Amino acid sequence: MSSLQGCCTLCSILLLLGGNLGVLVEIRQDSVNGTVGQSVLLPVSYTLSSASGFPLVIFWMFHNSSDRLISCAVQNCSLSAGGVPSDCSAKCFAHHTYRGRAELFPQNGSLLLRDLQLRDSGVYRVTFRSSHQTWDITLTVHEQCWIPENPGPVTRVPCYVFGGYYCFILLLLQLCWCRAKSREASNTGSRSVPRSESGQSRLQHGAALQPQ
Ligand SMILES: *[C@@H]1O[C@H](CO)[C@@H](O)[C@H](O)[C@H]1NC(C)=O
Ligand SMILES: *[C@@H]1O[C@H](CO)[C@@H](O)[C@H](O)[C@H]1NC(C)=O
Ligand SMILES: *[C@@H]1O[C@H](CO)[C@@H](O)[C@H](O)[C@H]1NC(C)=O
Repeated sequence: MSSLQGCCTLCSILLLLGGNLGVLVEIRQDSVNGTVGQSVLLPVSYTLSSASGFPLVIFWMFHNSSDRLISCAVQNCSLSAGGVPSDCSAKCFAHHTYRGRAELFPQNGSLLLRDLQLRDSGVYRVTFRSSHQTWDITLTVHEQCWIPENPGPVTRVPCYVFGGYYCFILLLLQLCWCRAKSREASNTGSRSVPRSESGQSRLQHGAALQPQ
């Protein structure tokens, strides 16, 4: 036991024997960071001592909610010599509030969460049903922000006060502004032509084209 504890402090390895089923579950990270709008993987992996462990039910819950966020009944997998599953056939079911946003990988039990929101922060609990034991991973979701490193011609607004969505709009505006500026610079190649005249000639050009 002491050799196991010495081996890793962050990972918890437990051998569970439920009848003839041996599941070894490994949690390498018990806390994970995510960013608003991005995806995050809550990493879990497991090995099986024999194929008689199927079907294997794996499910995830959020906080102390009584609803399963997502649940998979793993029907069968090919097992490597070390008992590592691959090519699994599984039936998975996500709670309607997570449909399209949550994915459970049957071959390792990891949970993928997409399009993160701040309210997704919290403790996620994975259960391998046959074992009646649970493992927790804490997810912390941060706002998507950047800090002005080298302020360019446009003064960047530090956006940690706004939501990530607002930052994205600001970024788009900046991009549009820069593109318009570079286009303007390439258009006024002949610098001797005054701006108003060039504008006028462009208008006339446009009017001449219209009848066609
Ligand atoms: C679990 O499987 C998925 C899909 O193959 C992979 O992206 C992910 O990295 C795996 N997680 C771990 C912890 O092995
Ligand atoms: C769930 O947790 C919240 C706080 O996070 C608490 O107020 C509530 O009583 C808990 N519910 C149950 C059923 O434990
Ligand atoms: C499970 O998968 C293994 C390897 O792919 C296969 O040999 C076996 O027949 C499958 N068992 C069932 C019940 O589908």
